[in-house]
Amino acid sequence: MSKGKLAKFEAMKSMSNVFQNFSWHEPQLINHLGNEVQLKGQWHEQIFGNNHPIVLELACGYGEYTVGMAQKRTDQNFIGIDIKGNRIYTGAQQILDQRISNAVFLRSSIELLPHFFDTAEVNEIWIPFPDPFRRDSKSNRRLTSPYFLDIYRQFVVPNGIIHLKTDSDILYEFTLQTIAENGCTLLESHYDLYQTAADNELLDIKTRYERLNLSGASTFKYIKFSL
Ligand SMILES: C[S@@+](CC[C@H](N)C(=O)[O-])C[C@H]1O[C@@H](n2cnc3c(N)ncnc32)[C@H](O)[C@@H]1O
Repeated sequence: MSKGKLAKFEAMKSMSNVFQNFSWHEPQLINHLGNEVQLKGQWHEQIFGNNHPIVLELACGYGEYTVGMAQKRTDQNFIGIDIKGNRIYTGAQQILDQRISNAVFLRSSIELLPHFFDTAEVNEIWIPFPDPFRRDSKSNRRLTSPYFLDIYRQFVVPNGIIHLKTDSDILYEFTLQTIAENGCTLLESHYDLYQTAADNELLDIKTRYERLNLSGASTFKYIKFSL
């Protein structure tokens, strides 16, 4: 592991706005003091100190959506989630620098989230540019697969809204099909988001992956649906 990554991992341990899980088999959240914290069902009271809706950014990478949404929507609470700590570090540092009080980060596998969120504790989910897993044999790992929708249903309010941004045709088509076959309601779909999407200032937030256009895509796609 590079020195830079190691330094970020070390620094993250003492960030008051980062909670980390280190075990797949015994999931628990560790705070900046090195203590285990029970946040399931407690996010409003213990972390945000209000009853505002909680919105997750899954596969948040550097956390651009968490930071950007927290700045634009001060009447909501945001939690950026990713397994890669060195990426989360960037967003968490911005939150600290800008003294943003309605956003934190969680380092964990998304599969483990039912351990950390209670029934209906989360209102909405954004998933910007998740890995598309192009091979059909890995479709279960796509973050909009039926497997993951069942995970989200364990802690998202009934009819909670999911937003997907992607540059992948495969993931776009797969998600539309999954919505149709799994009792979800399609609210919006745009194959070429910046040509046709409805007015939503949150769609203007650009993640690192989108900015660099790592896949060389010619269109960015957006789907909004309810669970
Ligand atoms: C293609 S990157 C996109 C990052 C960011 N959303 C962006 O647009 O720049 C996908 C991210 O998903 C994270 N990820 C993939 N599967 C995950 C999982 N099961 N649990 C947590 N994070 C995951 C990876 O660590 C990576 O940061």
